[in-house]
Amino acid sequence: NYYAILMAGGVGSRFWPVSTTAFPKQFHDMLGTGETLIQKTFSRLSKCIPKENIFILTNEKYNDLVFEQLPELTKRQVLLEPAMRNTAPCILYASLKIKKENPNALMLVAPSDHWIENEDAFIQNVEQAFNFCSTNDALMTLGIQPSFPNTGYGYIEYPKDVKTPIKPVRQFREKPDYQTATNFLKQGNFLWNAGIFMWSVNSVLQAFKTNQPDLYALFEKGMAHYNTETEATFIANYYGHAPNISVDYALMEASDNVFVLPASFDWNDLGTWGSLYDKLDKDANNNAVINAKTLTENASGNIIRTDQKKVVVIDGLNDYIVVDKNDVLLIFPKSKEQDIKQTLERVKAKF
Ligand code: GDD
Ligand code: MG
Repeated sequence: NYYAILMAGGVGSRFWPVSTTAFPKQFHDMLGTGETLIQKTFSRLSKCIPKENIFILTNEKYNDLVFEQLPELTKRQVLLEPAMRNTAPCILYASLKIKKENPNALMLVAPSDHWIENEDAFIQNVEQAFNFCSTNDALMTLGIQPSFPNTGYGYIEYPKDVKTPIKPVRQFREKPDYQTATNFLKQGNFLWNAGIFMWSVNSVLQAFKTNQPDLYALFEKGMAHYNTETEATFIANYYGHAPNISVDYALMEASDNVFVLPASFDWNDLGTWGSLYDKLDKDANNNAVINAKTLTENASGNIIRTDQKKVVVIDGLNDYIVVDKNDVLLIFPKSKEQDIKQTLERVKAKF
């Protein structure tokens, strides 16, 4: 009864110029290991979920990339979205499909672009969570011990006195402001949302019905009597009418049957060049180098990536992102990595 859906429709614009709308980060070998992030994620999940029950959800423009990188997939396993509507609509779409196939399915929903160390611990957590979901009407998420008030994550409050590994959630708060996040950290009983969810297909559909009745009605009607052809027509004509909303706001903040299992593996969402830097091996001067041949002297803390060029960094360039990709060379301070997204807008306007 185990199913998984891998979300692979994001753009990862903070990893520009490597990640682009035409070729986003999940389809790149960001870590320099020889495997792309989506390949890594697929192989991790296939250790606990039958391969044929793993679905990829992505924008239709990435269809070719998906089949190139995961040639073992069949068409049935790749669900294509004609519009970018964030994670709630695509999860609802996939859930309705899976429900048709198997009304007792237990589903895992995961991003395709995260770094996870200790696969055995990951698999154990998944088993534990699935067991819980098979007997409880629960929306489960995996929680990460927070280390700083990151405002880009969801925060999960659990009761301090609950000693069982799986904890009921008091409050789920998506992307709080800095002050709120700082207060959460002080209180000690908050976790980051890893964005890896588990639930029975019945629980998640019920949650959509209760919390997003309009969205639910749109899809329920459209998907009710489908065959492949009518479904394709429905998706082509109606998917774009769905509101742009993430599952975190649509379900997790709104539901009162949320549970968290603190993850027992190391996790990093590889959201920025700096988080990638943290995960890579460093040279003697603490520079992280991907693919490139480099000479660095008196320069430290840089992350350097090229496809072809040799890179020479001498005397005084510290803590920079140095990335050469196609016709772009980016030299950007690591401390401002969050601004790459906005800078990219200016670049697009200029060239
Ligand atoms: N198929 C599909 N379609 N996938 C999408 C879409 C879409 O329209 N939009 C985003 N995704 C994918 C992204 O590629 C990514 O793998 C995942 O869904 C999550 O989207 P993000 O855009 O990266 O979300 P976030 O980083 O702002 O926040 C989420 O992740 C955090 C942890 O990394 C939330 O779940 C937070 O609560 C969480 O802490
Ligand atoms: Mg993210």
